[in-house]
Amino acid sequence: MNIIEAKDYQDLSIKAAQYIIKNVRHNPNLVLGLATGSTPKGTYEQMIKDFQQNNTSYQYVKTINLDEYVGLAKDDLNSYSTFMNEHLFNHIDIPHSQTYIPNGMAKDLHNECAQYDRLIHSLGGVDLQLLGIGHNGHIGFNEPNTSFKTRTHIVKLASSTRNANERFFQDINEVPNYAITMGIQTILESKEILLLVSGKGKAKAVQKLLVEKNRCEQFPASSLYAHPHVTIIADKAALSLTFERKES
Ligand code: PGA
Repeated sequence: MNIIEAKDYQDLSIKAAQYIIKNVRHNPNLVLGLATGSTPKGTYEQMIKDFQQNNTSYQYVKTINLDEYVGLAKDDLNSYSTFMNEHLFNHIDIPHSQTYIPNGMAKDLHNECAQYDRLIHSLGGVDLQLLGIGHNGHIGFNEPNTSFKTRTHIVKLASSTRNANERFFQDINEVPNYAITMGIQTILESKEILLLVSGKGKAKAVQKLLVEKNRCEQFPASSLYAHPHVTIIADKAALSLTFERKES
């Protein structure tokens, strides 16, 4: 694992955007795996800024999102589809028809999962997958004790995840109980992975990942140790329990 230390959230966002932009410029047909949540927001802001200033084009890029809530329509305020439109897609030149997010309203959710895997396969696989990490080590919505062999599947969200995401909803009862997520095996098949971690609240999860280095299904992010090309960009606060610091 390659670890890049950022000063703070702003620095992390700039570094992550530069990383993605470099890949898009190198391969204009990039299949880019994207994530939602608070962490990548700043990265998307920087990508938009770069698009406006330097015209980096996403015309031939295809995006594959990690996950979506079950039961929220695409245009629901809290759907990840709305999140991606508002925070990225509406502000760059990617055709919406090339942006893919699981359909949480599909009648046959299991078929939707299988189709999502076929779609990824038909695009030639994900070239670069952006990831966040949950306090409990989840990646995508793959909660602790998810098999490392899973492909896109339906998950029951852990109560810690629902509590963490409550901030986006009016109250906890509105937070969906289920989601569709790319599975761990699906994520590991990406050619390259970029994991972003910011803030003190994630310091324990980062410590568990980087210090214990123990591949176990109780901690989904540890599955990444089987991947040959993972880069982690973490800010100082997130790394505060991992590296001992000598104050100068
Ligand atoms: P966050 O979520 O970026 O909102 O902290 C990350 C995650 O749960 O994967």
